[in-house]
Amino acid sequence: MNTQNTADYPTFPEGGDAFRHANLLGIEGLQPWEILYLLKEAEQWVAMNRQSTKHDDRLAGLTVINAFFENSTRTLLSFEIAGKRLGADVVNMHAAQSSIKKGETLIDTAVTLNAMRADAIVIRHGSSGAVQLIADKVDCPVLNAGDGQHEHPTQALLDALTIKQRLGRISGLTVTICGDILHSRVARSNIICLATLGAKVRVAGPPALLPDGIEVLSAEVFTDFDAALDGADVVMMLRLQNERMSGQFIPSPREYHRLYGLTQERLAKAAPDALVMHPGPMNRGVEIDSDVADNMARSAITEQVEMGVAMRMACLDVLTRRARKMEGWS
Ligand code: NCD
Repeated sequence: MNTQNTADYPTFPEGGDAFRHANLLGIEGLQPWEILYLLKEAEQWVAMNRQSTKHDDRLAGLTVINAFFENSTRTLLSFEIAGKRLGADVVNMHAAQSSIKKGETLIDTAVTLNAMRADAIVIRHGSSGAVQLIADKVDCPVLNAGDGQHEHPTQALLDALTIKQRLGRISGLTVTICGDILHSRVARSNIICLATLGAKVRVAGPPALLPDGIEVLSAEVFTDFDAALDGADVVMMLRLQNERMSGQFIPSPREYHRLYGLTQERLAKAAPDALVMHPGPMNRGVEIDSDVADNMARSAITEQVEMGVAMRMACLDVLTRRARKMEGWS
């Protein structure tokens, strides 16, 4: 894997001000150079995370609160590790054990977190737009760790970093995203991110799982997965988001696998060295076969998890810079 490819990046303004947003709520609205800046920043953390001593003190004294109102394994853990590796005090709030269960409103929870003087708040919530609502009520940077069907910006950024590390570029690649596009915040953030960086994005899935108006997001739409795979450089598979479905969207998991499951045979339709990705959690035998997911020569799934920590370190560092500068920190 190549971690020395900073030459591919544009020249950024001096003083670390290439990313001027107070929060990271979505990929929508970010300029290509802002995304590239975050990718470049993450590369130093990829390198540090591969050393035996993985520590930097730049967030020492800061408090990061991870407020997760929905289940998570990878995202929560990687934000926690990211904050700790940068020296922050990291606190996790699990909604199941919080006053949300006692009827507290989201706004009151936000005001409470703010009163504790958090320096960054990372939020996952089941409702699209909830993270924006909290960002409007607190004084510190807010990072969206997934809001409903809307956006999951750090997932798209870590996916872009993984592609860049493995294939050396993003611009000009054909990326096929297949699965439950309708309910997937990962698909939405990835389509916007990859298209902004110059990739050609295709989405594939059963008609019932393709949102109306998806074309406006600069993606070519397919209901035939085999046609969508033709010559693709990257194949990104998504889970059926059963928890967001009301009613029946697919005939059966077996039928879904027959039409939209990634098998070895199907993968042969993509480019010869096509990269296989999945944000996790995977449903093996439904959207992806084990022999494809576990084929290390083609699958970047564990690398996505590795890049997740580096990318989240970059986001926490960049977003807390303004506050650190105001305090006279480096
Ligand atoms: C995704 C999510 O939560 O949106 N998972 C993740 O963050 N790695 C995708 C999913 O749940 O299918």
